[in-house]
Amino acid sequence: MAIAVGIDVGGTSTKLGAVTRDGQILSKARFSTRDFPDGQAFLEALSSNINQLVADLGQSGEILGIGIGAPKANYFTGLVEGAANLLWKSPVDLRGYLQNYFNVPVIVTNDANLAAVGEKEFGAAKHMNNFLSVTIGTGLGCGIYMSGTLVHGQNDVAGELGHTSAKIGGRECQCGKQGCLEAYVSAKGIVRTAMKLLSKYEEDSSLRSIPAGQLSPTIIGQEALNGDKMASLVLEFTGDILGYKLADMVAMFNPEAIFLAGGVANAGPLLLDPTLESIKKYLYNTYPDPVVLLPSALKDDEMAVLGGGALVWEHLEDQMVIV
Ligand code: BGC
Ligand code: NA
Ligand code: ZN
Repeated sequence: MAIAVGIDVGGTSTKLGAVTRDGQILSKARFSTRDFPDGQAFLEALSSNINQLVADLGQSGEILGIGIGAPKANYFTGLVEGAANLLWKSPVDLRGYLQNYFNVPVIVTNDANLAAVGEKEFGAAKHMNNFLSVTIGTGLGCGIYMSGTLVHGQNDVAGELGHTSAKIGGRECQCGKQGCLEAYVSAKGIVRTAMKLLSKYEEDSSLRSIPAGQLSPTIIGQEALNGDKMASLVLEFTGDILGYKLADMVAMFNPEAIFLAGGVANAGPLLLDPTLESIKKYLYNTYPDPVVLLPSALKDDEMAVLGGGALVWEHLEDQMVIV
């Protein structure tokens, strides 16, 4: 079976899968990105995981190409460099190494871009030409589709929304700046908000019984769904600040829809409603019904892997047209 390998390098874990043309993942793997603070060691671990993936498919397994996304990965150079949530100190040559090792086309881009490609090819954006895909995980990323095309910008950093300012003089961000959106709307940021609210108010909350270090956006979302008022308050605060920045994105790009992905997005309306309210609050009234806000149709741990596969399939089809 000929497959495309899709790879999602996250700040916390790296996920990979063997993706068919119609978006099935035939085999998958995952390992801790943080176990490999050295770029070369990471590339070696990644390659052996890819080999294992193909071995899992049996004798007929064949790789046609590799699509890989990482924070701050660059489509044009194939390098990943300077990401706030990755430990590597010097540039890591994802494309050069994998192309040399596997001798197939390797397409590299930002991880949030891959999620957007996954949504477009296999998710809820199939029939959309203008949309944004916002992923909330270790970091906050954004993929932009305009006129049916993924927007890379000059250096593949279009949509670095996580490190745009949400508050002058605000919280310190992982990137070294202050007040970035990601310092509020990301796994760490949301937990930080919860801790602040819990210490500010005396209100009883199920969040108080969760051991320090175990609190996560997913748990906060679940507790909000279970009716916990403090957890809902965390989501309201999060939605408000996220919507404040998304209003700018709507004004600039006029998308048909914005997809939200990441564990916290599973809280559904409890996060989406305050976010949409906030978008409307901060947006000029030229946009009477500004945008549809939707949870991603894909699973969090699969969307970027699917997007990686989709990039490979698209690439192969473009090649065939040229030939
Ligand atoms: C990075 C982005 C990335 C996002 C999600 C941010 O910190 O700057 O490049 O897409 O995290 O991983
Ligand atoms: Na992007
Ligand atoms: Zn930042």
